[in-house]
Amino acid sequence: MARRRQHVNSLGLGFESFRGRRPDLPAGRPVEIEIGCAEAQFLFERAARDPDRTYVGLEIRPELVDDVNRRAAAARLPVTAVFGHANHHLADLFPPTRVARVFVNFPDPWFKRRHHKRRLMDEDLARAIHRVLEPGGDLLFQSDVWDIVLDAMGVLDAVDHLFENRAGPWSFWRSPHPYGARSWREAHCEESGLPIWRLLYQNI
Ligand SMILES: C[S@@+](CC[C@H](N)C(=O)[O-])C[C@H]1O[C@@H](n2cnc3c(N)ncnc32)[C@H](O)[C@@H]1O
Repeated sequence: MARRRQHVNSLGLGFESFRGRRPDLPAGRPVEIEIGCAEAQFLFERAARDPDRTYVGLEIRPELVDDVNRRAAAARLPVTAVFGHANHHLADLFPPTRVARVFVNFPDPWFKRRHHKRRLMDEDLARAIHRVLEPGGDLLFQSDVWDIVLDAMGVLDAVDHLFENRAGPWSFWRSPHPYGARSWREAHCEESGLPIWRLLYQNI
């Protein structure tokens, strides 16, 4: 499958009101979500490994949402993509404490200084993630862009009593993460020898 690389301005008009469809969250099945799932390689690998959970990808590019849902139906895997903007719609999509794991894999870097305000992680998103995660639930954040991970740590370690850094305060997670799946960008970085910086938090 050809990979579409264009970035969409997540601050663009039209994202504030929720226009997506809420995912089905069958009772008794733990829920894992990826924010910015793109083609959802990570979630498909997770689902193949542990099909007794529900996997939901949030994405602001509608053509990717449709494509993920078509492939999930064809493969009969419990993966759903929803059109939703993480910074606005987490509370519309998930009841409080319903989610067991949140993955933020390689968010758009927005390198130019004038675009930094488009970067994903901020205190409001940290609070929204905290609300949908169950107590003790995991939050993984990973990127090959040092600035992005440092900014995320600056939010997630500083925001009061929401998360505990599993590597210790203000520390990176040094080992591979324990989820047995790789996102497209993660696989690309590993195969190209690019560094990956990881943060792993437990919801309080
Ligand atoms: C660089 S790609 C990474 C894709 C995948 N997670 C990976 O690691 O290969 C980032 C994705 O996040 C999506 N995205 C950006 N901002 C978002 C937001 N606020 N909410 C949901 N998705 C977002 C983009 O459209 C893009 O598909």
